Amino acid sequence: MSVDTIVAQLRAAAAGKTPIKDVRTIVETLVADPERAANTFGDPGEDVILFEDETVSIWYCHFHPGMSVPAHDHQVSGTIGVFRGRERNDFFEADPSGGLRKSSDVFLGPGDTLSFGPSAIHSVSCVSETPCNGLHVYLGPLTTVERTLFDIDKGAEMPFDDENYDRLMASDRFTA
Ligand SMILES: [Fe+2]
Repeated sequence: MSVDTIVAQLRAAAAGKTPIKDVRTIVETLVADPERAANTFGDPGEDVILFEDETVSIWYCHFHPGMSVPAHDHQVSGTIGVFRGRERNDFFEADPSGGLRKSSDVFLGPGDTLSFGPSAIHSVSCVSETPCNGLHVYLGPLTTVERTLFDIDKGAEMPFDDENYDRLMASDRFTA
């Protein structure tokens, strides 16, 4: 199956009556054969937005070894399927005493799929010695919704923009 076909299937699923379930089924089926999925997408070596409109955003994601994406929300539901490498997702929830506290962690390797709701907050780290690649599908226009970044250690939250993202990415604790 080509990338174009996969994108077309996901677009149809996202516009259908049961988008969360149907998108997940497509992603699960795709990464069930991780080697084939990896061959299909090749190795661009960076994030690629394959498609975005009001109903769905489809990303090829690339995390290099040791890379950590700071904690963030999405405002839309998402499904992640991994076909190369291994990533750790740390999920956070509101702490009654203020700020956020870690609620769980989920490790994803080739063949694994994870879905989360619009209010989920997570950070993602590539924990393999090779890059981690996967398909990320969000049920909305991810680049235009107003999202939030979180500095967990400082208990601070801020708009998700390039400046805040780069600053949090550059701090030592996220690259250790
Ligand atoms: Fe995310």
